[in-house]
Amino acid sequence: MEFKDRHILLGITGGIAAYKSVELLRLLKKAGADVHVAMTEAALQFVGRTTFEVLSENCVLTNLWKDTASSVTHIDIATSIDAAIIAPATANFIGKYAHGIADDALLTTLLAVTSPVMICPSMNTDMYQNIRVQRNLDILEQDGIHILDPDDGVLACKTVGAGRLPDPWFIFDRLCKLLTPKDLVGRQILVTAGPTIEAIDPVRYVSNHSSGKMGYAIAEAAEQRGARVTLISGPVSLDPPVGVECIFVESCEQMAAAVFSHLAAADIIVKVAAVADYRPIDPGTRKIKKNQASKEITIAMTENMDILNRIGELKTDRQFLVGFAAETNDLEKHALAKIKKKNLDMIAANLVGTGDSGFKTNTNKVKLFFKDGSSKDIPLMDKHKVAHILLDTIIEQTG
Ligand code: CTP
Repeated sequence: MEFKDRHILLGITGGIAAYKSVELLRLLKKAGADVHVAMTEAALQFVGRTTFEVLSENCVLTNLWKDTASSVTHIDIATSIDAAIIAPATANFIGKYAHGIADDALLTTLLAVTSPVMICPSMNTDMYQNIRVQRNLDILEQDGIHILDPDDGVLACKTVGAGRLPDPWFIFDRLCKLLTPKDLVGRQILVTAGPTIEAIDPVRYVSNHSSGKMGYAIAEAAEQRGARVTLISGPVSLDPPVGVECIFVESCEQMAAAVFSHLAAADIIVKVAAVADYRPIDPGTRKIKKNQASKEITIAMTENMDILNRIGELKTDRQFLVGFAAETNDLEKHALAKIKKKNLDMIAANLVGTGDSGFKTNTNKVKLFFKDGSSKDIPLMDKHKVAHILLDTIIEQTG
């Protein structure tokens, strides 16, 4: 998500996990946010203010009397931010915040915040499960504060259980979701992504260069916008998107089985996967040995099912079907032919082999074509932004 022109308050309280907030700050800054950091006295025992000052490029608020040139600075921060995130949030902070106590700079600032607030509890498991802490978390939740549950794991105190601060990228992802307008609530989206691999023998396969990045970006963006998302993915080296039901497959046959068992529930189907058109006829059970007598080998292949084509035959009027087409030439001609042949509502076509667009890259230059022959150019941009524009367009088209 783009955080340009977004102002965020990052509150840090005194837990050992405070060191993870450095990385969270870095992620926010990298995304373009203007971040104001407020630290409690206890947080300063764990991490130094200089680190946060340098990385945030703003003064760190620790003390209402010493830090500020003007006594209203905490109010300025509170009223200018788009969201506040408190990570880690200690039991002491949670108790005070739940009861409106404002005895330090962070708590005082938070009392004046009207934008969304997310807190990330992190502490020893017994403390976290203590009835008083849970009661205070309930109060905050009922007040509309977003609580990000801690992870289970080995804690700094050597106990094993709930209380670990989630990874900074996960906190960042949930903050993105908090700030993303929920215009896909109630929609069920089915996305396919990545390549398929088709076995030649038990140790070899044929596949393609698809990285899965575009499909994963669409699944992630749709989830953040409130959709229920199922992602059917071929083998890729990407982290599964948070909050998305992921089904991992290898071959076209497996992808087809997963797609058709989830098709009926889907309102929107986005078929990004680069499915192999052919598969070796007989992968057998034994490794093919090198043939000393010949320098050539022929692998007999047979056609795979065209999953998209079959979805086009089965789809109902309430379902919106989007195909993808990676072409090396005659983009428009091939895209329009595929829309017609496969009964699509929209196709996202891109030229591959241009270096900055298509397989493996983080950017993509896509042209969207519609059933009525019209089209829309999306200039070269990050695949996450392309994903949001694609979803904007689907919303426009489906009303
Ligand atoms: N597709 C599919 N099943 C296949 C092949 C393709 O579902 N066996 C889908 C892809 O997921 C994509 C679209 O069809 O959404 C277009 O894929 P592409 O490979 O560009 O098109 P093909 O129809 O296979 O045509 P060609 O390879 O000749 O360009």
